[in-house]
Amino acid sequence: MAKIIDGKAVSAAVKAQVAEEVAALREKNIVPGLAVIIVGDDPASRVYVNNKKKACEALGIYSEEHALPADTTEQELLALVESLNNRSDISGILCQLPLPKHLDEKKIINAISPLKDVDAFHPSNVGAIMIGDYHFLPCTPAGIMELLKAADVEIEGKRCVVIGRSNIVGKPMAMLMLHANATVTICHSRTKDLPAICREADILIVAIGKAGFVKADMVKPGAVVIDVGMNRPEGGKLCGDVDFASVEPVCSAITPVPGGVGPMTIAMLMKNTLMAAKLQNAIR
Ligand code: GUN
Repeated sequence: MAKIIDGKAVSAAVKAQVAEEVAALREKNIVPGLAVIIVGDDPASRVYVNNKKKACEALGIYSEEHALPADTTEQELLALVESLNNRSDISGILCQLPLPKHLDEKKIINAISPLKDVDAFHPSNVGAIMIGDYHFLPCTPAGIMELLKAADVEIEGKRCVVIGRSNIVGKPMAMLMLHANATVTICHSRTKDLPAICREADILIVAIGKAGFVKADMVKPGAVVIDVGMNRPEGGKLCGDVDFASVEPVCSAITPVPGGVGPMTIAMLMKNTLMAAKLQNAIR
């Protein structure tokens, strides 16, 4: 029987720690604030943004939502980002992705002040992570590192395979595992003989967005399996990239979907918002 890594419990512990620190900052009249921008009406984005706002409220973090119509121009969006950059009551700015096609995501991300970039998507923060000298870590990879720590997974010297090479998850995830002294392989849609590479993994991290893609024959017996997938098949239940039923008997530990990686992403966003407030107020 594999250990089920409980993201709800670990995220609750991270949030409790953040709430404590937020309360201490409030004693000094510093209130961390998060601005969330959402453009258009993507239903999944709406759910994520609502959850982020709820988490802020629960932890004593001020939040405000900027819900813009799908036909918002780049100029309008850049003007909003600029105004949020200049506000002292806003510690963190998050622009929910994906943006409608006519908006250039790179340009918008580049416009967010690196000191308020709680997603850690700005090139200067990405570069800082590469060097290993950073303030913010991207929320999902950072959350996975917390889960591995909570589950007492040894990383040093282990073979780690990351499936997926996105800027949000795959690439930074590989970098964090490298910093933790794993030997890391990144796989993607053009990888040849993916199952054989996956079977070499002591730690398999799956972030490709294909429901039930990883089956038991792709997992080394005793491996630790982290499922980043959040797939919503039409009319069906939320499910991961890993076929949980077949993989669970083979591995030593696994994250469920829901209740695994998902709750961690929000907890780490709260942690980054707190960090942003501290940075902007020169508090260590
Ligand atoms: N869309 C999916 N995941 C994320 C995330 O972590 N941050 C932002 N801003 N948008 C997303």
